[in-house]
Amino acid sequence: MRIGILTGGGDCPGLNAVIRAVTRKGLKEGWEIWGIVEGWRGLMGDGWFEPLRLESVSGILRRGGTVLRTSRDNPFKIPGGADEVLANVKKNKIDALVVVGGEGTMKLSKKFFDRGIPLVGVPKTIDNDIWGTDLTFGFDTAVNTAMEVIDKLHSTAESHNRVLVVEVMGHYTGWIAWAAGLASGSDLIIIPEHPTGLKEICEVIEARFARGKYFSIVVVAEGAKISLEKGKPGDYIWQPGTDAAGHPRLGGIGEVLAKKIEEKTGFEARPVTLGYIQRGGSPSAFDRVLATRFGVFAVEMIKGKKFGQMVALKGTEITAVPLEEAAKQLKTVPEEYYKTAEVFFG
Ligand code: F6P
Repeated sequence: MRIGILTGGGDCPGLNAVIRAVTRKGLKEGWEIWGIVEGWRGLMGDGWFEPLRLESVSGILRRGGTVLRTSRDNPFKIPGGADEVLANVKKNKIDALVVVGGEGTMKLSKKFFDRGIPLVGVPKTIDNDIWGTDLTFGFDTAVNTAMEVIDKLHSTAESHNRVLVVEVMGHYTGWIAWAAGLASGSDLIIIPEHPTGLKEICEVIEARFARGKYFSIVVVAEGAKISLEKGKPGDYIWQPGTDAAGHPRLGGIGEVLAKKIEEKTGFEARPVTLGYIQRGGSPSAFDRVLATRFGVFAVEMIKGKKFGQMVALKGTEITAVPLEEAAKQLKTVPEEYYKTAEVFFG
């Protein structure tokens, strides 16, 4: 058996743990493991492969990012790209693929599975927004990183009587904001799933001031929509340009909101954007264990010919779900989770 493994989309901590697990388990099965370089890009053109041996994965468990590197290339948007992927899999006699990626990558995997590539998906993303799995690896590390930064921000915010508006990632969902905000005891959490307005936000900050708390930490998800003017619904705030897959890039709500809060309340407000810090660095123990379990299970799925499915965590058990389930919608923060966070606002 010859197995190919690729990592697609944005990187996240734990990808190397999957690569290591698939390689070590696959080698034990007597298989050949080929690393595909830079996501789907490595299956286009002449193809770009690296054989993965025991020594290739030695010492990578604790490393962030992906040793195979990644890209957001979408072969269906590149002329001839999808055919090149199919041709490369055939020409190189790859019996099955392990595709490690986020929601977009799972959608692409489904399309390639429908076109005849035997593959299994492994869900990754710091955003934790993939339907069908209770958690994705990378999320725990990102939340811990954000929590540590917010912990540090507390002392400086308090010393200067400032409102610090901390913008975190999460794409169109508020998982990172919700979890990091809750874990750090932030004073207000704003997420896309629970739209709000400037007036309500300022009321929380003013109420804190009235009870002698002259500083506030506001955590805002990059995908939050905030109504900044009475009667006008909020909208996404974008960065200029698009990513390699042609998607618009979220970002900038923290800066916009800090300015508006300062104008409306008169309190000094500053934005802090965590950005790629959340995606970088060594995976937490939780993410290393989850990613390793996912990797080993992916090989078991290939052994059992359970193609067209994605590894998933359900409760504490690892299982498999059809790729179409994973690709059909985003997993968002339930309202009751938000209600728990609300208890601590103000
Ligand atoms: O999906 C992970 C993520 O980090 C999102 O939270 C964020 O919106 C996006 O990727 C940023 O992507 P890029 O690497 O293209 O800037």
